[in-house]
Amino acid sequence: MKERCIVVTGASRGIGAAIAGRLARAGYAVACLSRSGALPELPDLPGDARARLIAGVADVTRAGSIAEAIGKIAEGFEIVGLVNNAGVHLEGASAEITLGHYDQVMATNATSVLLGCQAVYPHLAARKGGLIVNLGSFFDKLGVKRNLAYCASKAAVGAMTRCLAVEWAGKGIRVLDVAPGYIHTDLNHEAITQGPLRAYLEKRIPGREPGTADDVARLVASLFTSDIPFLTGETLYIDGAQGIAH
Ligand SMILES: NC(=O)c1ccc[n+]([C@@H]2O[C@H](COP(=O)([O-])OP(=O)(O)OC[C@H]3O[C@@H](n4cnc5c(N)ncnc54)[C@H](OP(=O)(O)O)[C@@H]3O)[C@@H](O)[C@H]2O)c1
Repeated sequence: MKERCIVVTGASRGIGAAIAGRLARAGYAVACLSRSGALPELPDLPGDARARLIAGVADVTRAGSIAEAIGKIAEGFEIVGLVNNAGVHLEGASAEITLGHYDQVMATNATSVLLGCQAVYPHLAARKGGLIVNLGSFFDKLGVKRNLAYCASKAAVGAMTRCLAVEWAGKGIRVLDVAPGYIHTDLNHEAITQGPLRAYLEKRIPGREPGTADDVARLVASLFTSDIPFLTGETLYIDGAQGIAH
C-alpha cells in the first residue's frame, strides 16, 4: 500500500509552508512544490512530521511542469488531495498595468488552479475520491484600488471551485476555496506591522489583528481530516470578519 500524499503548491514559504506542516502533523505525506523546490523552514515541526515532507520543483504557470511533478509523485505515493496555494500579488493603477502584469497574475493565481486540478484529476478519479483546496482571497468580491488583476484572479478561483465541485462530484472529488483576509507572513511583515497599512487594519479588522499563516493552515488541514462529504463548492472566508464588517 502506498502512503497517502497531499500535493501543496507554493509550499516553500508563507501560507503554503504552514499548510504543509499542519498536513504532515496530521499524518499525510506532503509533496511541497515550488519553483525553488525548497522544503519549508518550520523550526517547530516534530521530526516524524518533517520526515513526511517531500520536496519537488514545479512552475504552476506551465502545464507540463505541474503535470510532470504530480506524475512523479504518483509513482511513489497515493495522491489523495491537492492544495493549490501558489500565488502572486502585484499592484498597479488599472489605467497603466501592462498585459504582462495581468497575464502573470492570472497565470499564477487562476490558470494554475485549472492546471493543478487537471493534473490530479486522473489520480483522484481512479481512487473514487479526494479533496482539492484552492487558495482564494477575500478580495474576490471587493473592489480594491490598484488590484484589478489580483481581484479578478481570485474571483476566477471561486468560479472554478464551483464548476469543478459540480462537475466532479460524481467522481467523489470535492473542491473548496479557502479565502483569507490579511495574513501576517514573512514577506509582508514590515507593511503589516507598521505604517499606514497597520493603522488601517487596526480600524478595519474587528479583532484589530491580521491572521497568521497557521490560522489558514489549521483550517485547510481540518478540511482534510474532518472529511465532510456534503461540503463542496464553497468559498470559506477566513478574514477575522473584515469582509462583512460595516
Ligand atoms: N498573505 C496574505 O495576506 C494572503 C491573503 C489572501 C490570500 N493569499 C493567498 O495565499 C496564497 C499564499 O500566499 P503567501 O502570502 O503565503 O505567498 P508567498 O509568501 O509569496 O509565497 C508564495 C509561494 O508560491 C510559490 N510560487 C510563486 N509563484 C510560483 C510559480 N509560478 N510556480 C510554483 N510556485 C510558485 C513561492 O515559491 P517559489 O518562489 O520558490 O516558486 C512560494 O512558495 C496565495 O495564493 C495568495 O494569493 C494570501
